[in-house]
Amino acid sequence: MLRLQLPRLPPNMWTLCVQAALIATLVKSSVSLTDNLVGRLQTSYNPSKLSESKFLEYSNLSNKLHLREAISHILIPRVVGSGNHSLVRQYIVQSLKDLDWHVELDSFHDTAPIMGQLHFHNIIATLNPDAERYLVLACHYDSKYMPKAEFLGATDSAVPCAMLLNLAQVLQEQLKPFKKSKLSLMLLFFDGEEAFEEWGPKDSIYGARHLAKRWQHEGKLDSIDMLVLLDLLGAPDPAFYSFFANTESWYMRLQSVETRLAQIELLERYASSGVSQRDPTRYFQSQAMRSSFIEDDHIPFLKRNVPVLHLIPVPFPTVWHTPDDNESVIDYATTDNLALIIRLFALEYLLGGDQAK
Ligand SMILES: *[C@@H]1O[C@H](CO)[C@@H](O)[C@H](O)[C@H]1NC(C)=O
Ligand SMILES: *[C@@H]1O[C@H](CO)[C@@H](O)[C@H](O)[C@H]1NC(C)=O
Ligand SMILES: *[C@@H]1O[C@H](CO)[C@@H](O)[C@H](O)[C@H]1NC(C)=O
Repeated sequence: MLRLQLPRLPPNMWTLCVQAALIATLVKSSVSLTDNLVGRLQTSYNPSKLSESKFLEYSNLSNKLHLREAISHILIPRVVGSGNHSLVRQYIVQSLKDLDWHVELDSFHDTAPIMGQLHFHNIIATLNPDAERYLVLACHYDSKYMPKAEFLGATDSAVPCAMLLNLAQVLQEQLKPFKKSKLSLMLLFFDGEEAFEEWGPKDSIYGARHLAKRWQHEGKLDSIDMLVLLDLLGAPDPAFYSFFANTESWYMRLQSVETRLAQIELLERYASSGVSQRDPTRYFQSQAMRSSFIEDDHIPFLKRNVPVLHLIPVPFPTVWHTPDDNESVIDYATTDNLALIIRLFALEYLLGGDQAK
């Protein structure tokens, strides 16, 4: 995935960069939830928090075996245009169709260095294709082309994509009302996120660039309340930060879900962290990081004013863009914890506004 507009640095230098980039500590009272502007219609949306009993009920829902199965189906080399890439796409499409999601492909051709012309396919899955507004959860399903090595991309982004399929599986009952509601859920699996030769404006995020442009022409960007992009997840001890002011209150809801789960001891162990500059006992750090030096699939949407929550750890996992980004780096306790936090966040977003009724 992605490029950093910073030189490659050893992990300890990363810490310094993170420190330098921290410009604000989140203060709960400074962000009024009623100020949340979602959609370009500037509607304010302020769903209520899940009640104690609902929170407990939904926390109980999980299917860890399914999550592992989904990871193993996606965790094969899946460079755009390869047979394995088609297999992974078919697996994602079929899994969602089996759960009665509406699935369509956004297919297009583009030319890439080394490969020449390629056929790309973004996968767009919605519970209600006719909804007016969507919470969008996204990942990329292609893997990086490495001429001299086998690259599996466990964190990049087999685990994030498996988490989305697992969410659809685990919450199938709870999500049923959103097949007819005005506010609904969309899962987006971008194609062609990786560069083939060297990351640049024409060699990277092929799928996201295509889709953002297409939806702009079709006037569909306004229906996206928020794009939540998952990337580089699955390694132990991730630290997340709030990157964008206009989605900070949603970031704080993720933090709050994490805190509630920790309080009732429903998170599996937090692995001990070697990074002393941040709070090792939580994933969602209480700082904002405003220098937007991370390029990823959100950029074409961000440029078109779509609110973005970027769930990517800083620093990146140490295995990033190496053949070591394979099954052995996956920490399943962390993965299950994050999957649970994201499920509860999505349910709070969708159910808290009583949109289903
Ligand atoms: C959650 O699951 C546990 C164990 O299966 C059960 O004892 C408990 O009643 C459940 N709680 C809720 C709120 O469903
Ligand atoms: C396709 O995936 C299989 C695992 O299912 C793997 O053994 C094989 O090497 C992959 N093919 C390519 C061309 O990467
Ligand atoms: C995964 O990467 C680790 C670290 O490089 C390596 O030791 C291991 O053999 C790899 N495992 C697989 C299944 O490729």
